[in-house]
Amino acid sequence: MEETNVPDVIYHRGASGYAPENTLAAFRKAAGMGARWVEFDVMLTRDNTPILIHDEKLERTTSGKGRVAETDWIDLRKMDAGGWFGPEFAGEPVPTLSQALALLGELGLGANVEIKPSRGYEEETAHIAAATLLEEWPAHLPTPLISSFSREALATALVVAPEIPRALLLSRVGRDWREQAEMYDCSAIHTDAKRLTQAQLAEMREAGYAVRCYTVNEEARARTLFDWGVDGVFSDYPDRIPAK
Ligand code: G3P
Ligand code: MG
Repeated sequence: MEETNVPDVIYHRGASGYAPENTLAAFRKAAGMGARWVEFDVMLTRDNTPILIHDEKLERTTSGKGRVAETDWIDLRKMDAGGWFGPEFAGEPVPTLSQALALLGELGLGANVEIKPSRGYEEETAHIAAATLLEEWPAHLPTPLISSFSREALATALVVAPEIPRALLLSRVGRDWREQAEMYDCSAIHTDAKRLTQAQLAEMREAGYAVRCYTVNEEARARTLFDWGVDGVFSDYPDRIPAK
């Protein structure tokens, strides 16, 4: 399926420059600052609840300890995912994917859903995330975009929800980018802004892919990338890098 209405700036883990990443507060902040789309990371708890979190370990962004894949939702739901960012966010919970989708519906925010499996759980994470999107994505929002660094996750998303467009995530552009993008029938390539060259971008655009870069927080860098012809950037700061 084709991408629809993806804006030129997508806010990374919500407005994560101003609110704790991957929380409902970060989505509210993004919407309040004029965002149209956000990006967030989805991982499974031990008991297969899809939640929003970036790291495989709880320490950096929550009051908990240990691995997400070894923690049940009943325990995770009590953790504080906001206090580390600032006292005004203390008590902000780790959201489930379902809670996040309901809020996107209320706020009218589109989303790039990044499947971020704990190592060893690639297939089940993609399966559950894609199935949840099929069941619960608010119908009035633009079609979401699934992305992943995990090839197994993209392959699974293609089988479970072929109608949701996919982006290949690359931390560096290898020789096999084209083969990979074709294999998972991707509409876009999302890659590290620090490493992308103008020549690589030209090849990807020529091959028909939308190209977006993470994470761009400097206005001058965003301008250069847009001058080169990128379709979009991910940013933590809706005011510094406003969407068109
Ligand atoms: O999806 C773009 C970007 O979020 C990928 O990297 O590590 O921030 O999830 P990361
Ligand atoms: Mg991400």
